[in-house]
Amino acid sequence: MVQTARTQVAIIGAGPAGLLLAHLLHLAGVRSVVLENRSQQYIEERIRAGLLEQGTVDLLIECGVGERLKRESLVHHGIELRFGGRGHRIDLTALTGGRTVTIYAQHEVIKDLVKARLDAGGEIRFEVSDVSVHDFSGPTPRVRYRESGAERELACDFIAGCDGFHGICRESIPAGVLTVYDHHYPFAWLGVLTETPPVSPELIYTHHERGFALFTMRTTRVSRLYLQCTPDEDLANWPDDRIWEELRARLGTDGGVNLREGPILQKGITAMRGFVVEPMQYHRLFLAGDAAHIVPPTGAKGLNLAVADVRILARALAAHYAGRGMDLLERYSATCLRRIWRAQRFSWWMTTLLHRFPGEGPLRTRLQLAELDYLVHSKAASTALAENYTGLPFDD
Ligand code: FAD
Ligand code: DHB
Repeated sequence: MVQTARTQVAIIGAGPAGLLLAHLLHLAGVRSVVLENRSQQYIEERIRAGLLEQGTVDLLIECGVGERLKRESLVHHGIELRFGGRGHRIDLTALTGGRTVTIYAQHEVIKDLVKARLDAGGEIRFEVSDVSVHDFSGPTPRVRYRESGAERELACDFIAGCDGFHGICRESIPAGVLTVYDHHYPFAWLGVLTETPPVSPELIYTHHERGFALFTMRTTRVSRLYLQCTPDEDLANWPDDRIWEELRARLGTDGGVNLREGPILQKGITAMRGFVVEPMQYHRLFLAGDAAHIVPPTGAKGLNLAVADVRILARALAAHYAGRGMDLLERYSATCLRRIWRAQRFSWWMTTLLHRFPGEGPLRTRLQLAELDYLVHSKAASTALAENYTGLPFDD
């Protein structure tokens, strides 16, 4: 006998999208259950993004999960663009009328959201398996899954597919419904987490003949560093010595390098891809976050887009349960996609500006340097960067 439970919104995936959606729905008096195939410890330790836009921070604080963020995060007012052996600061705050970005690791956001849900008696079912979604083209969708070996069923009004890029929700939509846009960039990022103080108080994006590098951080004692590498890179080819040598070379300025070496805590490769599906809804199944779109990481938009999607989805679901109809839900996809495409464009622009393209001659490099030169000397161009980097307004 399959045990059946009922909720209003079944949420697949306890990433930033799924957990924040569950929290926002709870604040609006809407019940949900989150189904996650990993353990609580795994999702709370998974190293991913770290840069939050102003709007993301404001939302987390407004909805009551920003206490630790306010205490422990690092607020940044500018970034450095480094090219041709020199650094140039972009004053984000001055160019945007006071906006900032904030360093706070994604897994810390996850911990805060999990705690908020569990403290409020919310249901997150960890380590479930064989999740499948059914009947979402009619009024009574169902989700089936296994928990501790037993088969279970969750009846609901709506399903939120917040199960990331490799999840099952997007693929459960019938063939032919979605238009897929997919682009693979011809490089990847090698990311390392090191027990060393940041090389500078602000992030440094470097254009270098050996390839792009990014110097960011997690705390005042832990750095996060990224190096452009090949898409099929084998981590075995990157012993610690080679990583430090490469970072030193790409960071180098005419004035030398201020890079302190120390233990490398974690290494990983991130593929670079631009991916969007349209629409992000099929009847009562809604996709949010990485389940619907991926941006290349340059510019740090992935996590921020996931947050923006569920902000819109939570409002639309709350309006429906408050008796205001399906109008906002029907507009969900179009509302989100407008911002998603603008973030996709910005991530593409920053990626193509800063990376070395394999097999291309010196013309592209000279064009990149000319654009960087223009960017750091033109207030109009720097303002466009600052507005996009700190996050475009939520337009709903
Ligand atoms: P996810 O965080 O992927 O969450 C989806 C959740 O669903 C996961 O917990 C997963 O375990 C669960 N799930 C999947 N399938 C199932 C299933 N069948 N059943 C139940 N649960 C399921 N962005 C940046 O902006 N900057 C970065 O530096 C950066 N680095 C990244 C590094 C890596 C290795 C990765 C993978 C992503 C990175 N991103 C980065 C992107 C950013 O982390 C994502 O955009 C963000 O996590 C999206 O949140 P989400 O909730 O949509 O998806
Ligand atoms: C980080 C990642 C990014 O992709 C980025 O553009 C800025 C910061 C980070 O992990 O801190």
